[in-house]
Amino acid sequence: MNLESDDLLLDRDVHDTPAWTRAHAAGIERSDENVAPIIYPPDAPLDPDLHVWDTWFLRRRDGSVAEIDGYRVIFALSSSSALLPGKRHDVATIRYFYSRDGREWTTGGPVFEGSEPLGSRQWAGSALYDDGEVFAYYTASGRRGEAELTYTQRIALGRGGSVETDGDGLRIVGPWEHSVLLEPDGERYETEAQSRGMTYTFRDPWFFEDDGRTYLLFEANTPVPEDSAACGGDAAQREFNGSVGIAESPTGDPAAFELRPPLLDAVCVNQELERPHLIVRDGTYYLFVSSHDHTFAPGLDGYDALYGFAADSLRGDYEPLNGSGLVLTNPWNAPFQAYSWLADDHGDEALVTAFFNYFDFDRPSLDDVAHLPESEQLRRFGGTLAPTVRLRLDGRRTRVVGTLDHGHLPLPDEELPEPWWEPGEDVPVREYLTPPEADAGDGLLDVAETDG
Ligand code: FRU
Repeated sequence: MNLESDDLLLDRDVHDTPAWTRAHAAGIERSDENVAPIIYPPDAPLDPDLHVWDTWFLRRRDGSVAEIDGYRVIFALSSSSALLPGKRHDVATIRYFYSRDGREWTTGGPVFEGSEPLGSRQWAGSALYDDGEVFAYYTASGRRGEAELTYTQRIALGRGGSVETDGDGLRIVGPWEHSVLLEPDGERYETEAQSRGMTYTFRDPWFFEDDGRTYLLFEANTPVPEDSAACGGDAAQREFNGSVGIAESPTGDPAAFELRPPLLDAVCVNQELERPHLIVRDGTYYLFVSSHDHTFAPGLDGYDALYGFAADSLRGDYEPLNGSGLVLTNPWNAPFQAYSWLADDHGDEALVTAFFNYFDFDRPSLDDVAHLPESEQLRRFGGTLAPTVRLRLDGRRTRVVGTLDHGHLPLPDEELPEPWWEPGEDVPVREYLTPPEADAGDGLLDVAETDG
């Protein structure tokens, strides 16, 4: 590419897209308003035979959770619980679980049983129940049958599934038809070949409708030419180019989408804006993503956390919530206890689900897990649903106001216990937020247990 076309590319894709900037991200800091309490293992995991991580509800077109003969359904990435947790991404399979009360979940089975889903394994997505048909959006990672694992990512759809219920529970059955819906175009969305630095991303499709229009959000990267002037000319920072992508279905057909320019990018800031999703409340568009401590560009310190942005329209000028974008994170002494958060609208609050990741682990980097004996890697991995976190959304500010049990996903009309905090009250100070200056990292503070 010559310089002129590089400039055009930058103008269009970097400068005109609402940005999460280094100045915003420099303000990321734990506080009483954004730290969840320590998580302890539940009495029983979701399924002792499985590691379970990224999870999503089967929903209707309007975003409400589908209730089918009294059952609600979650889809989740899963693998055998005998596997070393770090290896699970290489074999991820989408399974479903169902519940009548939003507390006890029963394992259904692999969603795509009897068919050949695309990719050598399937990563996160979303699920639509429309007119009796299940549309399961997912990330086709690698290629089916590949001899060596690759990290090619395509946004795929399995359609044709249906739901059967009887006194014994619920089953999702095929036949399934699999197709690729979207691939990066190399112009607005980086391809694998263009990618420098960390693994590129083109994944995690999130179906939603707004104002009668049908969309998929997804995680992507913005192409930034090697010799561009972005990031003040800093080549190392330029390798960090996460974005939130969007595609639209012009006819509303849930199986035919066209790429549109990204909603937000984090060029020079962060490589991975994972599992993007939206809550629209009173004309405010709350856009949420999960991101990692290790995917921030050099010179920035972030956490494994849920980050959020707000705008007055879908394609508005997204501003980071709370100034920095930080919405919800783990305590300093269990920095990897939860990940892959999803915020769901519930009355005055957003209820945030996640999976229980590594606990009893206070090292500053997740890389250190690999140095633990295998038995400890297995023991310290949650591999089940985390406690649900209650979040108050108030304009451009958010705060954590309580927790519920592991995997408790309340029914729409369910009344929640008193929150820790009501607007107008002083924020209670919770002592486990930050390490004491003198002995940072030396051990665990006396921590409060979750109230779930
Ligand atoms: C988030 C994530 C997703 C991806 C999946 C792979 O936890 O990185 O972006 O789809 O995990 O296991």
